[in-house]
Amino acid sequence: MEKDFQVVVTGASGFVAKNVRKYLSDENIKIISISRRNFKKFKNETKIISRNYDEKIILPKIKNSNGLIHLVGIGKQSIKNDYNLINVKFTKKIINLCKKAKVKKFIYTSGLGVSKSSSLGYFISKYRAEKLIIESDLDYTIFRPSYIVGKDDPFTKLLKKQIKKGEIQIPGSGNYSIQPIYINDVSKIILKSLTDIKFKKQILDLVGSESISFQNYVKLFSRKTQTKLKKINLESAYHDAITKPGNQFGVEDLNLLIGDFKGDHKKLKKISQISFLSIRELLDTRKLF
Ligand SMILES: NC(=O)c1ccc[n+]([C@@H]2O[C@H](COP(=O)([O-])OP(=O)(O)OC[C@H]3O[C@@H](n4cnc5c(N)ncnc54)[C@H](OP(=O)(O)O)[C@@H]3O)[C@@H](O)[C@H]2O)c1
Repeated sequence: MEKDFQVVVTGASGFVAKNVRKYLSDENIKIISISRRNFKKFKNETKIISRNYDEKIILPKIKNSNGLIHLVGIGKQSIKNDYNLINVKFTKKIINLCKKAKVKKFIYTSGLGVSKSSSLGYFISKYRAEKLIIESDLDYTIFRPSYIVGKDDPFTKLLKKQIKKGEIQIPGSGNYSIQPIYINDVSKIILKSLTDIKFKKQILDLVGSESISFQNYVKLFSRKTQTKLKKINLESAYHDAITKPGNQFGVEDLNLLIGDFKGDHKKLKKISQISFLSIRELLDTRKLF
């Protein structure tokens, strides 16, 4: 890697960003991290706090960076922040910043299941963001992640909280599948994608080696505890998701689960040449606890 290799990260205080920044810092890479609010910085890191990602503040600092990892995104809408505003228009703003600053590479995390025939609002916004990136003339890698899991992701935190209470709730049958990928593997892949030509202009599913039913994942996750698994009626789950803000499952969470999306791990493995942690290894080595 060239000396003074410099990477910009947006949405710095989010789950993926925090972990990726820590990884890049440990690898002695210079990082410029942007957030709307203050956060603790790592070694080799420059902080930019800007509520509206003010171009005047950001542009001079990110000039000629080797890459930008765009991790701003929402999976839940509100009156103030909807998918079009944050997932599409905000991405457009960051693309323009990259062009002006002559940033060499754009990394984006879209979503597993996004395609040109997407019908969900969330997926449509991610698809439009992908399209803006592809048409931007920037070099890019677009990742479509399933659940990215670590010690501090919302899904893992929810399971740990439910275990404490003695009961994990499973919406519907629990037979729909997920394909979790470990955050450290994600961080490794993201760094590789910044430097390795094989990632140039690629769209890759960011998924673990195994697709597993939600029910079986939860069983494995809680196997050393006395936790009861309780299936909840899907209609009630959606009703709570629609009527109770802050409910454990949002509407989009349920949509993504029921969507039962599966990704192409083989392609990711072939391009990245990384040896991934399997779900069992992840859980046996207590990396999520
Ligand atoms: N985690 C997963 O399993 C997963 C799966 C599929 C796709 N993804 C995608 O990967 C990206 C990162 O995910 P994550 O899990 O790290 O999400 P996250 O923890 O919610 O972080 C997203 C970050 O986006 C920034 N943000 C949110 N609303 C904003 C707004 N109105 N204006 C400006 N910035 C805003 C925030 O950064 P600041 O607070 O620092 O400003 C926030 O921390 C997202 O695009 C997500 O859709 C994640």
